[in-house]
Amino acid sequence: MEQKGPFSATVVIVGSGLSGLATAACLADRHIDAVILERDDTFAPLWRYRTYDRLHLHLPKKYCELPLLPHPPSAPNFLPVADFIRYLNAYSAAFGLERLLRLRRRVDSAEFDTAAGRWRIAAVNLDSGEAEEYEALFLVVATGENDEPVVPTDIPGLDRFEGKAIHSCRFRSGKEYEGLDVLVVGSGNSGMEIACDLSHSGARASIVVRSPLHIVTKEIYSFALVLLRVLPMSLVDSVILFLCYLWFGNTSKYGLHRPSKGPLYLKENTPIYPVVDVGTYAKIKSGDIKIIPSVLAIEGKNVVFKNGKQQRFDVIILATGYKSNVKRWLKGDDHLIGEDGMAKQMYPNHWKGRNGLYCSGLIRRGIYGSTTDAINIADDISLEVQSRIKDKVA
Ligand SMILES: Cc1cc2nc3c(=O)[nH]c(=O)nc-3n(C[C@H](O)[C@H](O)[C@H](O)COP(=O)(O)OP(=O)(O)OC[C@H]3O[C@@H](n4cnc5c(N)ncnc54)[C@H](O)[C@@H]3O)c2cc1C
Ligand SMILES: *[C@@H]1O[C@H](CO)[C@@H](O)[C@H](O)[C@H]1NC(C)=O
Repeated sequence: MEQKGPFSATVVIVGSGLSGLATAACLADRHIDAVILERDDTFAPLWRYRTYDRLHLHLPKKYCELPLLPHPPSAPNFLPVADFIRYLNAYSAAFGLERLLRLRRRVDSAEFDTAAGRWRIAAVNLDSGEAEEYEALFLVVATGENDEPVVPTDIPGLDRFEGKAIHSCRFRSGKEYEGLDVLVVGSGNSGMEIACDLSHSGARASIVVRSPLHIVTKEIYSFALVLLRVLPMSLVDSVILFLCYLWFGNTSKYGLHRPSKGPLYLKENTPIYPVVDVGTYAKIKSGDIKIIPSVLAIEGKNVVFKNGKQQRFDVIILATGYKSNVKRWLKGDDHLIGEDGMAKQMYPNHWKGRNGLYCSGLIRRGIYGSTTDAINIADDISLEVQSRIKDKVA
């Protein structure tokens, strides 16, 4: 920045993931100027750097598009990540988002200045090390639900494991682990998918499944989303469980116990997503992937299970999730964002705070959630801007 003093914009968006991009596009469409501050060296870095090679989106493409730009009819229904990234590049180009982006800017604090009626945002330019200041009438929090890797603290000896331990954010492909004994900790979508990939690639994979989970197929799950438009959730949950029983049989036999509440109920009311099977279940049934109910301790390269048995592993992959970082930098807000860094208010009124503060993509509704949040936020800011202009003229 050549100028001294704060850089001023109508809207500052923190984060250039799907939520930030979608909001920026909707604002551009309404002719409202915005700046996007992004810590990484590109937009949508999660999709470029932190997804593993074989990942496909779990939902049909119509649930995986951002506002104002549908996927072309020629695109596959379940998009591979590479296609999705191509879509994001086209999206950015279509709305001129690159010129709004300031990359390698890490936001360290944002606070509402009541006297000035503006947000003051402090960032650091990670290339030059210089501190930068921004001010804006509106602040959009779009730093995502998945920023900081979460590492379990309740496995004694994990920090002294003598093999290689990595978080799943650093896992790219099972090929790197051929011939090795690998323990995956965490049985969400990432863990189950990584275990499958490992097994495909000739590693001996085991997975720790500590809590009950709903395993579904992407076809059953997509069908359920269609039913959900016309049937109540509890009924759709029963349909899912019935179809899953026909497809998988009794999953308890293989150590995958289902929770007492249904998959959609849990998705709405807790952080627990259903696991979309990508072939892991067949490998569990055939014994190629072993299920381990829980780990007691780690000693050297040995992992001791609660049933007293132990096994030697070369690698541990921690697919134990992520958390939001908002609480570290957003100051003085107790209305919009909860202690866990996620939206505090209930859906569908979760996206708007006080003093021109908004959040996008913090309500655990995936890509579809980012899209609806972006539209709501841009509409609301547009109304506010118009009413401020009217006030000035009057
Ligand atoms: C491996 C993996 C696979 C997934 N697959 C799917 C899927 O198939 N379908 C689905 O719906 N969801 C999926 N998700 C969830 C996915 O995170 C969201 O759908 C979507 O990427 C969220 O976009 P976002 O913009 O809200 O957050 P993010 O993509 O996380 O973007 C947040 C951005 O903010 C930046 N940022 C954070 N803090 C700061 C700061 N202080 N200053 C400046 N910039 C900052 C980050 O660098 C990042 O670019 C997946 C997540 C992971 C980790
Ligand atoms: C599945 O199997 C478990 C024990 O293996 C049993 O307790 C449970 O009732 C079975 N569930 C169904 C739906 O058959």
